[in-house]
Amino acid sequence: MADKYEKVLELAKRRGFLWNSFELYGGTAGFYDYGPLGAMLKRRVENIWRDIFVINEGYYEIESPTIGIEDIFIASGHVGGFSDPLTECQECHEAFRADHLIQDITDNPDTLSADEVSGLIKSNNIICPECKGALGDVYEFNLMFKTNIGPGGKRAGYLRPETAQGMFVDFPRLVKFYRDHLPFGATQIGKTYRNEISPRQGVIRLREFTQAEAEIFIDPRVKTHPGFSEVSDIKLTLFSQEGQDTGKSEIITLGEAVQKGTIAHEFLAYCIARTHQYLLRVGISPDKLRFRQHMKDEMAHYAADCWDAEILSDRFGWVETVGIADRTDYDLKAHARQSETELTVYVPYDKPKTVTRLAVKPDMGVLGPRFKGKAGKIVSALKDLKLKDLTGDFIELTIEDEKIRIEKELVDVGSVTEEIHGENIVPHVIEPSFGIDRIIYSLLEHAYFEEEVEVEGKKEPRIVLRLPPEVAPVQAAVLPLLTKEELIKPAREITESLRKKGILTAYDDSGTIGRRYRRNDEIGTPYSITIDYQTLDDCTVTIRDRDTMKQVRAPLEGIAGNIYDLLYSGSFREWC
Ligand code: GLY
Repeated sequence: MADKYEKVLELAKRRGFLWNSFELYGGTAGFYDYGPLGAMLKRRVENIWRDIFVINEGYYEIESPTIGIEDIFIASGHVGGFSDPLTECQECHEAFRADHLIQDITDNPDTLSADEVSGLIKSNNIICPECKGALGDVYEFNLMFKTNIGPGGKRAGYLRPETAQGMFVDFPRLVKFYRDHLPFGATQIGKTYRNEISPRQGVIRLREFTQAEAEIFIDPRVKTHPGFSEVSDIKLTLFSQEGQDTGKSEIITLGEAVQKGTIAHEFLAYCIARTHQYLLRVGISPDKLRFRQHMKDEMAHYAADCWDAEILSDRFGWVETVGIADRTDYDLKAHARQSETELTVYVPYDKPKTVTRLAVKPDMGVLGPRFKGKAGKIVSALKDLKLKDLTGDFIELTIEDEKIRIEKELVDVGSVTEEIHGENIVPHVIEPSFGIDRIIYSLLEHAYFEEEVEVEGKKEPRIVLRLPPEVAPVQAAVLPLLTKEELIKPAREITESLRKKGILTAYDDSGTIGRRYRRNDEIGTPYSITIDYQTLDDCTVTIRDRDTMKQVRAPLEGIAGNIYDLLYSGSFREWC
């Protein structure tokens, strides 16, 4: 019997939500097309994300290239360390994620080196799962797609493995845009690419996928959030590091979780709250959602703490769908080093501070001719000296990896007292990062129901997608009861009025009315409007609710406005 994944995918393919890419040529694992209904569903899911993070949180959206130059990914650590262990069958040459082959042998295969994984494969006589051939040595395979920028192959480029780097690279511009006020954030929704070794999980593991990411730059000394009191009563399921050690998750309010130290600080908890609200709004079942903290040894190289929103799926179990990470100052410091540019924000003090500091006056008459081109750098380094650096007869400096000694009598050292009004700091980054495609698959699965319904005294099966009206791709269907001109004409007029209001409306006059309802139920159309002979008498129509299948008669006048209200703020039952 087909499992839920197969059923959802069958519907998704048949009705134009998701299609295997390049099907005409046999397809390739790790790529999916969104068909006409899928693309519209995706836009709506992305727009709700924008509503929360861009419009309401004020984290403006940017759009940077999907190809990045090598410097970016050297700084980010992706060139050096963004890899999975790969082993290839010596007989059939199929490639495998080597850590996946030892999952039953060791608890944390993803924490082992390639050599350690190789050793375990050999000592446990693990062979090719496909053809039973011998497996080759394990090596680290970088997951970035590499390309050349311009002709001649002189300049390496990479398809971005996360949208995040766009925000870090634009940091100096963003600081100015936000007029030096922390916290500020920037967001991006766009394609990212990971050359997965052997993606076998359908739509769950893609080589090209869509991320929606916010990089929120905060003052590391201020990890509170002014909006936290609005969300502190939200109860959710947390599976902390400690909980994972004992195998127990807990249902707890965010306020309690911060108070107990389960979640390190308010800012992180606030982002978890917004994520929770977003996922419920797009249709994730609350009982199939939990937040799991990364264990210390699974944390990404840039993260000090990370909570994943995991969504329960029938076939794949708990699937990581959103990561909410405290990236500290890792990325800004790395880009500052790589680009040799200071990446800081000037933070004014509430009250000026009086400080006494060393005042260093080098004898340039001697040092200038002695060090020539390096003299400027030496002067800067001398100005940064601390009292403890001045204990011996010489001052020792390192300039461009060269050790330099300067006689102390060549530097006049005094002190000055002054008032300072602020300082330059490197912000820390909190990053909620959403895998949009996984969210879309999950909400389809959670919305999918098979039921038996009674129609005119007979039981018949129906498939229904109980999508939130706000995300349903087709929002209304207009159905003349019979294909008679006198019913078709008003039906066409109603369709036009709904479309003018921005409501995506399907006009459908083919087949029995029952069949048309079923067709719309299985794509999740929330409301169907039927035009019958009574419409001609009293200017009313029936509106049918997808989930309850109840129908009410409603006036024709104002129908578009009423359907709009139902879609975006209403409840059919209240309205009836
Ligand atoms: N930016 C986080 C990630 O791509 O995993």
